[in-house]
Amino acid sequence: MSFKQEINLFDHAADIYKALPRGILLLSEAEDCVNAMTIGWATFGVEWGVPIFAVYVREARFTRELLDRTGEFTVCAPYGEGDSTKIAKALALCGSKSGRDVDKIAQAGLTVVDADIVRPPALKEFPLTVECRVVYQQIQPVKEISSKFKKFYPADKLEEYGGEHIAYYGEILKSYIVKD
Ligand SMILES: Cc1cc2nc3c(=O)[nH]c(=O)nc-3n(C[C@H](O)[C@H](O)[C@H](O)COP(=O)(O)O)c2cc1C
Repeated sequence: MSFKQEINLFDHAADIYKALPRGILLLSEAEDCVNAMTIGWATFGVEWGVPIFAVYVREARFTRELLDRTGEFTVCAPYGEGDSTKIAKALALCGSKSGRDVDKIAQAGLTVVDADIVRPPALKEFPLTVECRVVYQQIQPVKEISSKFKKFYPADKLEEYGGEHIAYYGEILKSYIVKD
């Protein structure tokens, strides 16, 4: 039986930011379809007087479809002693295959734990968990982005890259570490 040790996410900011270069997981769910996608970009802070976790999802991702349907997500990061091989394999799978084609959570052998407030679950193997509900979303038009970052949006390959990014701002409802 696992339990959840509630935390203040801002006390664990370094754990999230240090994990990002390798990737953390963004989980979404709609009609019992649970999907995990690897993300390398995220920011968190305060807006409208509440804690916000922002993720950046390209238009073509299956995750985008699920987020638009239900407006809820969890962010799950590795923490503490973990099976580093299993974590690395899960990040590679969830960052390369689409949930349209594969049940990535099953294929990666990840253990789902019910979240407390939102529908997408937490994961035992990625125990640092943030439960979020989308309160704002905004496409980030390429023409508004510094030309410094144009390598992310080559005009002739934009579709192949998955399109523009949509920023999803999730209000942080609860943060915790899943423990055995
Ligand atoms: C390390 C890493 C970081 C990634 N970060 C992002 C990201 O921040 N936003 C994004 O849209 N795609 C990102 N991707 C690509 C998606 O994870 C990938 O396209 C995935 O297959 C999409 O899954 P889905 O179609 O099931 O949503 C990243 C991939 C890797 C390997």
